[in-house]
Amino acid sequence: MSDKIIIRVMNESDIPEALKLWRISFNAGFSTGFDTEESIERYLKRNPDLSTVAYTEDGQLVGALMCGHDGRRGSIYHTAVYPEYRGNSIGRRMEERSLSALRAIGITTGFLFISTKNPGSEEFWTTIGWEVIPTIKYLYKEF
Ligand SMILES: CC(C)(COP(=O)(O)OP(=O)(O)OC[C@H]1O[C@@H](n2cnc3c(N)ncnc32)[C@H](O)[C@@H]1OP(=O)(O)O)[C@@H](O)C(=O)NCCC(=O)NCCS
Repeated sequence: MSDKIIIRVMNESDIPEALKLWRISFNAGFSTGFDTEESIERYLKRNPDLSTVAYTEDGQLVGALMCGHDGRRGSIYHTAVYPEYRGNSIGRRMEERSLSALRAIGITTGFLFISTKNPGSEEFWTTIGWEVIPTIKYLYKEF
């Protein structure tokens, strides 16, 4: 199946379908108040060519991943694949495309956050080469 899946850069026109996927994909880590069409559009403009989507040949979005950087390190958010398409290397291929785009602009390290409320996500990331750093805590503030 994965051969017939097209992996490509995420454009602004992909945002509505990506939001539909993200809304059903996470038990935690996604907020419809924070992740609006406008905020994702701003993110894509600030991080051109880095985020990735997966499409079927007949034009259905089946996977999406947001990727950016802060000038030093890359970061990945909201990686998801529709349940019926999982286990076909779509997540892996989306990550590879985004990392290769980061590498092309000189960014060769990155981080991401996972929620313990999303089962399987740690296994997915560690299988494709990411390392959990147990001594780091994630701090958050609204201002
Ligand atoms: C996590 C997710 C994006 C993985 O997408 P996917 O396309 O099914 O992943 P892949 O097929 O590319 O898997 C790559 C590797 O990770 C492993 N993997 C993927 N999901 C796994 C799971 N739930 N448990 C254990 N291993 C898993 C696969 O076995 C595969 O290893 P292999 O190549 O040795 O067989 C998908 O399951 C998903 O959308 N989950 C819900 C949203 C979520 O939790 N996202 C992560 C947020 S941080």
